[in-house]
Amino acid sequence: MLTLARIAEDPGTLTHRLESRDGARLVFRPLAPGDAQGLADFLAGLSPESRRFSTFDGYDLAAARELCAAIARYDKLRLVLEEEPSARIVGLLEFSLALPPGDVERYRRAGIRLDETTDCRFGPTLADDHQGKGLATQVFPLVRQVARRLRKRRIILWGGVLADNPRAIRYYEKNGFHRVGTFTGPDAQTSLDMILNLEPAPGEQA
Ligand SMILES: CC(C)(COP(=O)(O)OP(=O)(O)OC[C@H]1O[C@@H](n2cnc3c(N)ncnc32)[C@H](O)[C@@H]1OP(=O)(O)O)[C@@H](O)C(=O)NCCC(=O)NCCS
Repeated sequence: MLTLARIAEDPGTLTHRLESRDGARLVFRPLAPGDAQGLADFLAGLSPESRRFSTFDGYDLAAARELCAAIARYDKLRLVLEEEPSARIVGLLEFSLALPPGDVERYRRAGIRLDETTDCRFGPTLADDHQGKGLATQVFPLVRQVARRLRKRRIILWGGVLADNPRAIRYYEKNGFHRVGTFTGPDAQTSLDMILNLEPAPGEQA
């Protein structure tokens, strides 16, 4: 069975190469311990709007080092999209295998019983110059595959999606997520909870 420790030992198991719609060569792979500077450059380059939509603890080298230090230590799996041959990180795709009690309670009120054995959280962030070009949709089959290989049956949004982020909402809906409800975050902004049921792909074991 695939675990975070095994992924860290053998990142190749989740590594894929692809070409974006505009012809860029990209690698989809787990975040690696040596990625701190590249990840810092990615975080530092995010616009204020992207930072509002996808909030990190920081946007500098210290924050990037924290994310790299967390590899296989907690419940998080982070994957990056790296451009070739520049090796520039242009996307960060985050999974959490833990479910905060607040999320469990919100979903319970909406009639959905979350379960850490079968459910995980997901949050994507692309570099500003790579947004709105279909890239996150292009890699979504790989995201699904990662979740399935971790034995998950459903994906919920990590922290929800802000109600005034129509591109992200459209992105989630076109990739099969459905709306569960709205909630008001600590910053008094309205967000949506969304969930995706992972049906096994043809040929994949249920
Ligand atoms: C959200 C994000 C991951 C989506 O990735 P992406 O590659 O830009 O998304 P895609 O291009 O695959 O899909 C976006 C869809 O929204 C549509 N869209 C774009 N702007 C839109 C708008 N203002 N209103 C409605 N739909 C919009 C696009 O047309 C596309 O749908 P279509 O294929 O039916 O035309 C990316 O834009 C991003 O990183 N944004 C900043 C951080 C963020 O918001 N992260 C999510 C936090 S919950």
